[in-house]
Amino acid sequence: MSDDAFSACLIRWQQKHGRHDLPWQQTRDAYRIWLAEIMLQQTQVSTVIPYYSRFLERFPTIEALARSALEPVLELWAGLGYYARARNLHRCAQVIVTDCAGQFPKEAQAIAELPGIGRSTAAAISVFAFGQRAAILDGNVKRVLARCFGIEGFPGSATTQKEMWRLADALLPARNIGAYTQGLMDLGSTLCSRRKPFCNACPMHEICIARREGRQAELPVAKPRKVLPERETGLLILTDGNRVLLERRPPAGIWGGLLTLPEGGVAEARELTRRYGCRLLAMQALLPFRHTFSHFHLHIQPLLCRVEVKTRLVAEAGWQWLEYEAIETAALPAPIRFLLRTMAQRVGQEAQE
Ligand code: ADE
Repeated sequence: MSDDAFSACLIRWQQKHGRHDLPWQQTRDAYRIWLAEIMLQQTQVSTVIPYYSRFLERFPTIEALARSALEPVLELWAGLGYYARARNLHRCAQVIVTDCAGQFPKEAQAIAELPGIGRSTAAAISVFAFGQRAAILDGNVKRVLARCFGIEGFPGSATTQKEMWRLADALLPARNIGAYTQGLMDLGSTLCSRRKPFCNACPMHEICIARREGRQAELPVAKPRKVLPERETGLLILTDGNRVLLERRPPAGIWGGLLTLPEGGVAEARELTRRYGCRLLAMQALLPFRHTFSHFHLHIQPLLCRVEVKTRLVAEAGWQWLEYEAIETAALPAPIRFLLRTMAQRVGQEAQE
């Protein structure tokens, strides 16, 4: 099959069967398209939609985003994960407002120079906002190409990546770049799924090498498995029944800039209790759980510490007492929000008994 046939087939399929009503498809505004592409980088469409509308309600323009402090941006991002995206988004808005008079550059190459925007995202923005001819290559597209064209290398390796970019560039159609690009995304996230592809409904049914050879499960080649190291920590839930003591993480690194529970065990709990003018009433180990980061597993042992505040001391910089009502809206990492939600329900129920 020629390259033209691949794109023609994909465009026809997208126009008939692809997605046309996603919120970010109703605009040519580069700000809105950029925001969607960043949110969609590691997160599914259905999760992104409510975050996307809340974000735009609060920050309807790139100027509004650039003017804001980082904290409200992180709050709107809380629960989406990969918070470096939010920090880069904020920085990028400031660069565009300060250096580019609030206008996105049109060329993919220039967009890719901005903070937090890689080559594929830059291409998607230049296609959807400006109708430019540029190739995308995210994880879903790599899967489509690896299967359709029988590419054998691991897509994360430099050699295979280079081969895939060359192919992605060569496949670009002369016209209908928007439908083509959306078609690649739609095919990759609907029919050509990782585990159970729907090959019978696929427009590439006839040409797909993986389908012809029954190798859908083998392509793309899986990442050589690395065993993630295991780490352990204790998290302290110091609470007076209405509020819980939280600490802000340093800006860089795991959960950077977010509020989280202080780390430690019994000794640290006693120390914090003293430091904040509290009397320790009871301690209770809650069920431990595991949270997996990209490069390690963290085993977390939560320790519920019920305290009575004897002297109201002002929290030090970076520390704060958070009201239970604010648990749903504060800039908390998702597993910490979940833990606090469960804890607040439990403490609330006990108070009623
Ligand atoms: N994934 C990444 N970008 C997307 C988009 N624009 N529409 C749907 N899914 C996507």
